[in-house]
Amino acid sequence: MQKGDPTGWFEALYREGEEGKSVVPWADRQGNPGLAEFWKTRPQKIDGGSALVIGCGLGDDAEELAEWGFRTTAFDISETAIRTAKKRFPESNVKYRVADLFQPPVEWQRKFDFLFEANTVQALPGSLRTAAIEKIASFLKPGGSLLVIARGREASEPEGQMPWPLTREELAEFIRAGLKEVSFENYFDNEEPPARRYRVLYSRPE
Ligand SMILES: C[S@@+](CC[C@H](N)C(=O)[O-])C[C@H]1O[C@@H](n2cnc3c(N)ncnc32)[C@H](O)[C@@H]1O
Repeated sequence: MQKGDPTGWFEALYREGEEGKSVVPWADRQGNPGLAEFWKTRPQKIDGGSALVIGCGLGDDAEELAEWGFRTTAFDISETAIRTAKKRFPESNVKYRVADLFQPPVEWQRKFDFLFEANTVQALPGSLRTAAIEKIASFLKPGGSLLVIARGREASEPEGQMPWPLTREELAEFIRAGLKEVSFENYFDNEEPPARRYRVLYSRPE
């Protein structure tokens, strides 16, 4: 971060994780429990539609969406993360690819029926968040849905340490990017100590 490279450390950390020199704190090799829980009570339309997973890490959430029936693409800036995901799921139908959210393939514009974003925006410094959110929103088709799960904080609470939790005002950038907020949940997860999560469903009007 101090070298002016706010995303370069992800690849370095995944590489150290692969070599057993570091632990990648979020790479728990399980699907996001907030995604599964959401789907149980509020399953979204699948109908062979396309899904994109943002900052997919080692692939567990992408595998879940593919299992549910989405034609799923998943990307991450880290080559090591993508290589590991492919190795972990050799029979996968997910299209894994290395890509930078800030320079995405042009063909992803308004292409996907469903987007899943968990914990990527919060791992970026505040100065990059608006651009990150605009890029994520740009991938959604009219009529499509985006589910975001992130650590949350009230505006009056301190920013804290990495991963810097998001405020509701920061998340409102998705609305300024043309999406509609369908639901907003504010809850504490089962981690020890419990962390506040915001889980937000957006749609792009037809
Ligand atoms: C905090 S991790 C969360 C990973 C996963 N979504 C999860 O919830 O377990 C953030 C992920 O975003 C990826 N990432 C960070 N900046 C990115 C960028 N500019 N483009 C694509 N992926 C990025 C990182 O490599 C990392 O895998």
